[in-house]
Amino acid sequence: MVAVKQEGWSSRTAFILAAVGAAVGLGNIWRFPTLAGENGGGAFVLIYIACVVLIGLPLVLSEVIVGRHGGSDAYHSAEKLAKESNVSSGWAAFGGVGISAAFLILTFYSVVAGWVLYYVGVFISDFFGALTSGDPFAGALLNETKEEIPQRMGALFENNFILLSMHTIFMFLTIAIVARGVTDGIEKAATYLMPTFFILLILITIYGAFVGEFGRAVSFLFTPDFSKLNAGVVNEALGQALFSMSVGSAALITYGAYVPKETKLAPTAAMIAFADTGVAIMAGLMIFPIVFSAGLDVAAGPTLVFQSLPIAFQSMPAGSFVGLLFFVLIFFAALTSSISLLEAVVAWAIKKFQCSRAMAAWGVGGVIFLVGVACALSLNIWSELRILGFWGIFAETNIMDTIDGFVGKVLLPVAALITTIFIGWKADKKLVDAESGLNGGKLAFWRFLTAWLSPIAVSLILIFGLFPSLLPS
Ligand code: PHE
Repeated sequence: MVAVKQEGWSSRTAFILAAVGAAVGLGNIWRFPTLAGENGGGAFVLIYIACVVLIGLPLVLSEVIVGRHGGSDAYHSAEKLAKESNVSSGWAAFGGVGISAAFLILTFYSVVAGWVLYYVGVFISDFFGALTSGDPFAGALLNETKEEIPQRMGALFENNFILLSMHTIFMFLTIAIVARGVTDGIEKAATYLMPTFFILLILITIYGAFVGEFGRAVSFLFTPDFSKLNAGVVNEALGQALFSMSVGSAALITYGAYVPKETKLAPTAAMIAFADTGVAIMAGLMIFPIVFSAGLDVAAGPTLVFQSLPIAFQSMPAGSFVGLLFFVLIFFAALTSSISLLEAVVAWAIKKFQCSRAMAAWGVGGVIFLVGVACALSLNIWSELRILGFWGIFAETNIMDTIDGFVGKVLLPVAALITTIFIGWKADKKLVDAESGLNGGKLAFWRFLTAWLSPIAVSLILIFGLFPSLLPS
């Protein structure tokens, strides 16, 4: 048996940076503004915030509690609490489902992060192009027309060499960091990447406020147009809130396991939720002024960041430089999230197979990498393959969208649902309450949300996700 060193964060700040790093990712910068843009801005934001506070935050707290109490990976931590609560270890299923979700998310997450890396490369070469052209402040993507720039994404999707190299580099970095351990790898990466991320976010937002249409972006994000709301939008907002805070994916349970006993969990969970939501809104305030000022469509959908923004940067002062910073920022956000996804699986593998961390990281990471290759190829040569083709909701989706959809519609809500029922009804109340650090009215409120509101809300996401035709329009 390999002796496993008990690992842990060196401080509360380290935990917060790592957990915020896990939560803040492509979901905040790419998906949130996309969804807000498509669903009418302010009304979506309002519903989103309600979902975060009433459903997301209580779940974040539940997950960190399970992790800290168990002191192990998501599955074994959940199992420990189930045993101590004298209920069937079947309740620990949420840990296993979460670990599977983390595994699957990372397969396509790394491919998308690879696109980001490609754009970092484009802007680096562009920036140097701008420098040597004698005008460092020339717009981005100098030699391309407004029609050509968006075609880059299509060209990227056809180019397996670039797609796969970027995916490889990204996975390699993620694995190398996780293999170094909690303190020397994950914590260190978060300590460098997260503060830089925040500085870039603030700088680019200020830039957008000066050169873009900040006022319009503010009114778009904060003036609710309720005519755009329907049950589908509410469902989408809740699903996004959970994904964005990494709920249901084992990541928070795993990171919670490394938290020292004296750290108060409730305020820490609140900070994670607050930071994650703050970053999502800031990302909107960073992106929309630029998109508006270039006269582009805020409801462009998933191509907003990859096609619309590069066009916008072209016509802005110092656009190539700011564009470069922008994609570096997304890259950092993606990296700290993918680290947490890999760690959720690796922590389990170390315990399950009694192997060294390095072996678990390279082994698990290698398998994820291979499934990721299939995701990348599903953008071109395998675009017609249907892995769950027999299942109506996945009849038309390629491998990547099927995995994404399966995780979002099935695994994450199932994990969250079992978690909230377990913590709300089954787990030993004394143990859980003591771990939460809450008391009085706050404890009662959290208990109410966990036992009643979350199970209902998460069941609805599950039902409407699986049977979209049931959605009232
Ligand atoms: N929350 C991350 C994001 O917003 C994604 C993620 C999900 C990371 C689950 C870890 C676990 O991009």
